[in-house]
Amino acid sequence: MNRSLAVLVLSSLALGRSFAQAPAARIKIDPDRVVGEIHPHVFGNFAEHLGRCVYGGMYEEGSALSDADGFRKDVMEAVKQLGVSILRWPGGNFVSGYNWKDGIGPKSSRPARADLAWGALESNRFGTDEFLRYCERTGIEPVLCINAGLGTIDDAREWVEYVNESRDTYWAAQRRKNGRDKPWNVKYWGLGNEIDGPWQLGHKTAAEYAAFALEAGKAMRRVDPSIKLVAVGASNYKPGSDWMGWNRTVLEKLKDEVDYLSLHTYVPPRREQTLEDFLSASRMLDERIEITASQIRAAQSGTAKPRPIAIAFDEWNVCCRTSPGIDLEVHRTGLEERYGFEDALAMGVFLNSFLRHADVVKMANLAQLVNALAPIVTNKSGLFLQSIYFPIEEYGKQRGNMALDVWVSSPTIATSGGEAFRALDVSASWNPSTRRLSLNVLNRSSQDDISTQVESADGKLANQVEIWQMRHPDMRATHDFGRDRTLVPKSSVLAVTPNTKRFNYTFPKASLTILKFTL
Ligand code: AHR
Repeated sequence: MNRSLAVLVLSSLALGRSFAQAPAARIKIDPDRVVGEIHPHVFGNFAEHLGRCVYGGMYEEGSALSDADGFRKDVMEAVKQLGVSILRWPGGNFVSGYNWKDGIGPKSSRPARADLAWGALESNRFGTDEFLRYCERTGIEPVLCINAGLGTIDDAREWVEYVNESRDTYWAAQRRKNGRDKPWNVKYWGLGNEIDGPWQLGHKTAAEYAAFALEAGKAMRRVDPSIKLVAVGASNYKPGSDWMGWNRTVLEKLKDEVDYLSLHTYVPPRREQTLEDFLSASRMLDERIEITASQIRAAQSGTAKPRPIAIAFDEWNVCCRTSPGIDLEVHRTGLEERYGFEDALAMGVFLNSFLRHADVVKMANLAQLVNALAPIVTNKSGLFLQSIYFPIEEYGKQRGNMALDVWVSSPTIATSGGEAFRALDVSASWNPSTRRLSLNVLNRSSQDDISTQVESADGKLANQVEIWQMRHPDMRATHDFGRDRTLVPKSSVLAVTPNTKRFNYTFPKASLTILKFTL
């Protein structure tokens, strides 16, 4: 090799090295670019009479682990620690065949009924007063979902009267007789569940549902004008169903009556898919939220002072390994999913999307809470926390923060169908009073660690970044009773040069990381 060629090779090697060291991704954060406030109700849950969610989960009469009301104390502790802000009850599919009047009064005289949604026997020993007492004791805001399937407008109106009426009316007197003098003052009411789905008892067309919900909402508000109403939005995305048409009709008819439109989305568990395919669901979620937000705006346009309507994403999770779709089979398995490490990563997919749309997503409820599709699993002698518990607990600390619009440049990866998307899925939030920033980063690549330069447009960094992280070599690793420490997040600290505006960090492949720092 002649001398000049050797110099060229050496310098290009050096250049090559310096290129290799340049961060592959960049994230720019500007605290002025506020999307909206992260409402505490984004960290809500859903509890249905399904499998062992209520009976044997939240409520277990006669257990040494329960209090005098039959509430499992260990579960209540785990629920509080999770940071559940709002709890939707009693269903779900269950509610469309449920009569709330079966679940009040002396327990010994409550009727047992066949639950036509899940093929179970419903004892009705846990009803309205038990649920509301549970919420009061755990400091959680309740959402009562009415039966818009087989139920009537009068049932809904009388339920509001039973729960919220302060005067001496018939149903308020029943509540008092049942031991509760002052009204429960339930503010949030769902106008039914998944009525757009043919699987739902009392399934209706959009026009039929809208007509029912309009009158039900009107009658409920005559009893208590202060209540907030959630209309049923899309849950049925099966081929051939017109989910946008459903939203459009419902919004057109209910835009002056309701405060929320619901969305439901379950991401199917990863079976033969690649991790990348599984975690590419972000685009679909962003799209469903953005389309629905535009539909809300379209319905409101032309009105000088439209009624504000937010999205309540009131069922979301990874579902379902445990059910082949036959009701009796569902009852047998009770949708008791064992969540793997990869499902904890999927929590990042959902939560990042909710935070990116914090201006419009003002409520979200993980389906569900205990045992059925749940972060908490019980048996007769204790409980364990599943992988999905930890991201929800940690993201929940960002409630009340301002979600930020973050600029991201990241290497792309592809789904098996060839669709390219960013390896890093990012959201961020900012607390203006403490000047604390949280940067939430999901590295969706199963192959590559991604070195990243994080830059702040405003303010200089203090001398350290706190790191919260979930990573694990086995995507399918799960927790179980007595084996529940392997997937817990790790905390560490990254020293950075004080008074600079940027630092580098490498996000490990297949990991969920929250970087917390002060500006
Ligand atoms: O969460 C389980 C079920 O999923 C709910 O009952 C229903 O609303 C949804 O289809």
